[in-house]
Amino acid sequence: CIPKFVKIVEVGPRDGLQNEKNIVPTAVKIELIHRLASTGLSVIEVTSFVSPKWVPQLADAKDVMQAVNNLGSIRMPVLTPNLKGFEAAVAAGAREVAVFASASESFSKSNINCSIEESLARYQAVIRAAKQLSIPVRGWQGQGQIPVVGCMKVSYHIKGPIPPSKVAYVAKELHDMGCFEISLGDTIGVGTPGSVVPMLLAVMAVVPIEKLAVHFHDTYGQSLPNILVSLQMGISIVDSSVGGLGGCPYAKGASGNVATEDVVYMLNGIGVKTNVDIGKLLLAGDFISSYLERPSTSKTAIALNRV
Ligand code: HMG
Ligand code: MG
Repeated sequence: CIPKFVKIVEVGPRDGLQNEKNIVPTAVKIELIHRLASTGLSVIEVTSFVSPKWVPQLADAKDVMQAVNNLGSIRMPVLTPNLKGFEAAVAAGAREVAVFASASESFSKSNINCSIEESLARYQAVIRAAKQLSIPVRGWQGQGQIPVVGCMKVSYHIKGPIPPSKVAYVAKELHDMGCFEISLGDTIGVGTPGSVVPMLLAVMAVVPIEKLAVHFHDTYGQSLPNILVSLQMGISIVDSSVGGLGGCPYAKGASGNVATEDVVYMLNGIGVKTNVDIGKLLLAGDFISSYLERPSTSKTAIALNRV
């Protein structure tokens, strides 16, 4: 029952770049977004309207947004943690926003400096304001053993695995508030199909499956098996990052997001359509990898660049 079409949500310009220590020039971010837009991707997370003290890399959110908001029909959600961010995003021309919650109290505190319940109350205000302007809101929530992808703060605590019921609770709250899509993030990539299946079963029981997306990191090389098992359960929306960009400097061994090139290669191989041109995607990945002077972590990019 694998879906015939999978919608890929490219998160490279936002999630991928947010942890880069050296500030990437605005022009490079804009060029990357243009290159990604030329591949056929229908959704690209372009930046975040968050506190520049927390995420200095994305302090140019307004300039990036203003430069790309004429990219036709491509949807470009931006992260907005509060009303201040929402208002700045709308002023810069954003037509879609995303809120991000956590199923872990410690991660919620270290990522957005408030408890889970406080964050849900804050998002209610963002979602209410968005509804008035007919702006769709995507919801993201992290889970996993040590959910630290935000990791702008070092102070997180290692707790046990997040119970699937807790993930389902936060997902349902976001859905009930009006998020049109909920992305479930294994923030540091510790999940395997063994933990992904019960988590998805719990969430699918309370949120319609067509509204769920999965967001995996490749820390233990589990992202493709995790995606495949999610597709087998009926998920048809996958977050990924060109060149496998992303990762967290504070989480021991945590690596980047699953590479978009690898996801598209697998989906092409199993006959699932994405509308993404893998050749153009590889060029976008080469562009940013050369800028960062770092080889891509995409296995597909490495293999195809060799032949
Ligand atoms: P706070 O310090 O509690 O907030 O941070 P505050 O209200 O006290 O404000 C502090 C300062 O920030 C003030 O400025 C505010 O004006 C300013 P000051 O008076 O000190 O000069 N401020 C803002 N500036 C710009 N835009 C805003 C904004 N809000 C306040 N929107 C806050 C709370 C939520 C703001 C902060 O914790 C924050 O920005 N956190 C964002 C963290 C983040 O972006 N994490 C990464 C995203 S989550 C993620 O990556 C996971 C995901 O990718 C999935 C995965 O990979 O698994 C989604
Ligand atoms: Mg991520």
